[in-house]
Amino acid sequence: MSMFSLRDITKSFSGNAILKGVSLEAGDGEFIAMVGPSGCGKSTLLRIVAGLDHADAGAIRINGAEVSHLPAADRNIAMVFQSYALYPHLTAGQNIAVPLAMRNLSGSQRLPLIGRFMPGQRRICADIQRQVQAMAASLKIDHLLDRKPGQMSGGQRQRVALARAMVRNPSVFLMDEPLSNLDANLRVHARGEIVDLHRRAGVPTLYVTHDQSEALSMADRVAVMIGGNLLQLASPQAIYDDPDHIEVARFVGQPRINLLASQRDADGTVSFGNLRLTSASDTIGDPRVTLGVRPEFVRLRAEGEGALATRIERLEFLGSEVIVFTKLSAIGETVLAKISPAEARGLAAGQPIGLDMDPSHVMLFAEDGRRLAAAPLKAVLREMVHG
Ligand SMILES: Nc1ncnc2c1ncn2[C@@H]1O[C@H](COP(=O)(O)OP(=O)(O)OP(=O)(O)O)[C@@H](O)[C@H]1O
Ligand SMILES: [Mg+2]
Repeated sequence: MSMFSLRDITKSFSGNAILKGVSLEAGDGEFIAMVGPSGCGKSTLLRIVAGLDHADAGAIRINGAEVSHLPAADRNIAMVFQSYALYPHLTAGQNIAVPLAMRNLSGSQRLPLIGRFMPGQRRICADIQRQVQAMAASLKIDHLLDRKPGQMSGGQRQRVALARAMVRNPSVFLMDEPLSNLDANLRVHARGEIVDLHRRAGVPTLYVTHDQSEALSMADRVAVMIGGNLLQLASPQAIYDDPDHIEVARFVGQPRINLLASQRDADGTVSFGNLRLTSASDTIGDPRVTLGVRPEFVRLRAEGEGALATRIERLEFLGSEVIVFTKLSAIGETVLAKISPAEARGLAAGQPIGLDMDPSHVMLFAEDGRRLAAAPLKAVLREMVHG
């Protein structure tokens, strides 16, 4: 049983706030994927948790015990880096053995020439060999144990790095973009392997990636970090269907969500083009709001029909689906629709068409990015009128 928590972690570099109070909790055996744009502070956070860097403030707990003051070696946290950081002069087997040797052998037992004459050294070394063998077998790299990193492929090196991290039964597992050096096919394969390994080891894991499909497909929960703030931590489905913040909605989803600037009148009407949503309730303060709707909930209509008049700019064929880029005639805004190849038959660039949006899937965001309450909004949208 193992769990860890971060409470209000802050960090600045030369006066620039990089982490602005990050809190999260990972339950026993939970896999949390952290996504966010480049430079948002993901690696900084992992380094702090691992003890390779120090937070300005905040607490890190493993199984309830505060570890912020402990050096990296005493935290029992394993970390895999994007670069794998294998020792180039050691074989795969020796690389995997390093953390066990550091933990189980004393300083004099580790000395190259005289270590083997120290009492107990042989027995401990034999035991380490057994653990290395077992780990290598479980990751199917036993045939590589005598090779040095320079004699292995990227995928093989990545597995050796995973083996080295897992071999000492860490309490927490941290991974910083461990697949980014692999080609596309190998990445998808390696995703499955990591998820599998994680399930067997049952160790809470914080996995950093900037690849949202990796995060959504692998994790129990996804943490979206933007500009040093953890904006949302929720299941992949909730992150996608129910973003708390406009930045989460914007970052997650391929193709991107449609975001359309709009206004709310004094009587509660939210308008967009000739799309009007009437609101009885007065829950929205600032009149400026943004409508969000994912491309799969935008429906194409014949010219002159639907809530919005648009023109097709171009079509992007992706095999099983087609992305239609349309430009709204009134304000020149681009709206994306995701449709099936069958629906796309006969469509061509330049063609004028109408658009509708599925009202139960339209989201509303306030000027500061917060998601506005869904309940009144849904009620509002049901009364959608075509102007
Ligand atoms: N030691 C340091 N000194 C000064 N600035 C730093 C240091 N380490 C990181 N930074 C800055 O902190 C910010 C966050 O960096 P970090 O490496 O955590 O980003 P990231 O989210 O991991 O990005 P990426 O997806 O590109 O890996 C960046 O602006 C970076 O330049
Ligand atoms: Mg990074």
